[in-house]
Amino acid sequence: MNDLLTDKAAPGRGVMKLYLVSGLAVVGLLLLAGLAMRASQAGWLPLPPDGFYSLLTLHGAGMIVAMMVCAMGAIWFLTRQQVNMSAKLAVAAWALIMVGVVGVLVATLVGRYGSLYTFLYPMPFRGTWPNWSTGVFLIGLVFVNAGWMIWCCQMLSGVLRAHGGYRGAIGWDYVWHSKSFVASGRHPPPPESFPAFMVGLDGLIAGMAATLLGVALVVHWIDPEVQIDPLWAKNLTYFWAHTVANLIIYMLAGVIYVALPFATRREYHVSKVFVVAWWTSMTLTLTNYFHHLYMDFAQPEILQYIGQLSSYLSALPVTVVTVFGALMLVWRSGMRWTLGALFFYLGMLGWVVGGIGAEIDASVPFNVHLHNTLWVPAHFHTYLLGGCLLFVLGWVFLLLESRAASATRKSMTWLISILMFGGMLVFLLSFYVSGAYGVPRRYSIEPAPGPVLAQIATLGAAVMIVGMLLAGIEAWRLWRSKAGLPAGTKEAIHG
Ligand code: HEM
Repeated sequence: MNDLLTDKAAPGRGVMKLYLVSGLAVVGLLLLAGLAMRASQAGWLPLPPDGFYSLLTLHGAGMIVAMMVCAMGAIWFLTRQQVNMSAKLAVAAWALIMVGVVGVLVATLVGRYGSLYTFLYPMPFRGTWPNWSTGVFLIGLVFVNAGWMIWCCQMLSGVLRAHGGYRGAIGWDYVWHSKSFVASGRHPPPPESFPAFMVGLDGLIAGMAATLLGVALVVHWIDPEVQIDPLWAKNLTYFWAHTVANLIIYMLAGVIYVALPFATRREYHVSKVFVVAWWTSMTLTLTNYFHHLYMDFAQPEILQYIGQLSSYLSALPVTVVTVFGALMLVWRSGMRWTLGALFFYLGMLGWVVGGIGAEIDASVPFNVHLHNTLWVPAHFHTYLLGGCLLFVLGWVFLLLESRAASATRKSMTWLISILMFGGMLVFLLSFYVSGAYGVPRRYSIEPAPGPVLAQIATLGAAVMIVGMLLAGIEAWRLWRSKAGLPAGTKEAIHG
């Protein structure tokens, strides 16, 4: 796969670009929405409460969907290198998701729907916003989920075809009968196929739960006489939302397995430990969402124990194996610290730190204190912004750098890094400190010391956005500089 990034004719490149460009465009817009919210919590921007909550709804749902779309594009492209998959079907799935995104935009910006996407039933039906906006929001999410499920079916079928069914795709014989497996000349699937299989299967199961919930909510919207059990609704809501948020990370872990070998000119090896680590994530990611329901005392107690255990077991093995493997790849490889490589390397830090923040919150004795405080946005911003977004940017930069006629200047690399990572650190730290002080999340007006910390965070976020703008300008320059590249120049520059 080492020449994949430079291969202009690699199949599925157009599909990947469509997903990446549209996803990143939405992320760019919603970063500004995030900045506006933090400035409002700081007392610097007068947003009325209904404006704040509709913006929060747009920012939360939009960011998750946008990052999901970016990750889908990248992992689809990597799987497409192993097996034929219809580009038309992938574009149709993308189009359905985009129809949903328009629905969410209309419901929040025009209809001022403000009950978030991880709402508690019956909140969406009890707000100050018009009833139509609740319907448009819910139907928008149904469209997003329809596109997601079509895409998951395609991925699952692709991976199963590529590796000879379920047994081959999960590396069963490689783990349990390794001697005869190796003797017969067979190989386990490449590392990126494990997250590709996982997202196909787990994504489909989560999508089915979301379909059930979506239909129930739309029916209640049409006929309010039809009642829904709130605990059932909460279970399905978090099962879907938490699983999809986790799958974003896992899809991008698949990208690490291709990107870092490219940057280091080394190979990422699949081992038995690696495969078993992925088995734990594939299964336990489906039950770790129970940690969102510790406070729901009507929930059967056994589920709380399962939630605690699966929170640790689903995340730890894969994170340790991936990050350790990645560090070993980089160690003494002589890797050039381009922006692409830097984004990947630091993204792993964000993944690990955000993951630890999540595990702390998922531990019952801490959850009692941190539940619904700003600790929660602290940890998920760390791994979504400081992890996933950096992986996506890293991938885009590696693609651009591998074909550009001139490299990024060192001073520019430093400037972008200092602004982006410095600003990000300040922005994230203030969420953590607020959480530790018990400042509640999702409050348009926060109790002390929330507003002071929000002021510091707003400055950090603004600096980070300036760094991202510079990165955008540099990406544009790299993209333009590939034009007219004479044969052999690329090799001369990139070694
Ligand atoms: C400049 C960068 C960003 C800023 C200033 C920002 C700001 C915020 C703020 C102020 C909140 C509300 C916190 C609360 O009181 O509960 C929030 C929530 C959220 N943000 Fe961000 N954010 C940024 C980037 C991102 C990114 C890159 C992602 C994802 C990739 C993201 C995903 C979310 C999600 C999922 C929520 C939760 C919404 C909910 O509670 O349902 N944010 N953000």
